[in-house]
Amino acid sequence: MNNIILCGFMGCGKSSVGRKLSQRCGREFVDMDRYIEEKTGMTVAEIFEQKGEEGFREIETEACKELSEKENLIIAAGGGTLTFERNVEILRQGGKIIFIDVSYENLCERLSHDTRRPLLQVENRNEVIRQLLDKRLPLYKKAASVYVNGNFNSTVVVNNILTIIR
Ligand code: S3P
Repeated sequence: MNNIILCGFMGCGKSSVGRKLSQRCGREFVDMDRYIEEKTGMTVAEIFEQKGEEGFREIETEACKELSEKENLIIAAGGGTLTFERNVEILRQGGKIIFIDVSYENLCERLSHDTRRPLLQVENRNEVIRQLLDKRLPLYKKAASVYVNGNFNSTVVVNNILTIIR
């Protein structure tokens, strides 16, 4: 199984890097959040609202199982996906996990106008980013076998990923 799974915090560029990477490699790109939205007919925000975060996490694990049975995909995971050991185990069986690391400062900047992500619709957004990032960084590092610096534009990040994996 040779999928490429992009992992990292919200706003680290998983989707834009994934889309470009798929064009460069001629592989299909799947954004896990969009996959979940198509499968359920609800937006991620609606799932959080109606089923809570726990309900979303169950659907997310189902999506991991389904996608890891396919081959040759470039998958942009959600920011929380690889913080669950069960998802790491499933996705690792289906391919290589790449961690896109972006600094706290750049994440805050990139996420400052976000209206879509339920976890960030809070007054103290930067504080929430700090807390989540502190908790998640070691988990992303543990999950991934490849590390890439994501503090550049997506073309540079894609080039770096291709150099590493080829
Ligand atoms: C989440 C990240 C989101 C989405 C959901 C939860 C998280 O994906 O899965 O809002 O827990 O970090 P993106 O990283 O694509 O924004």
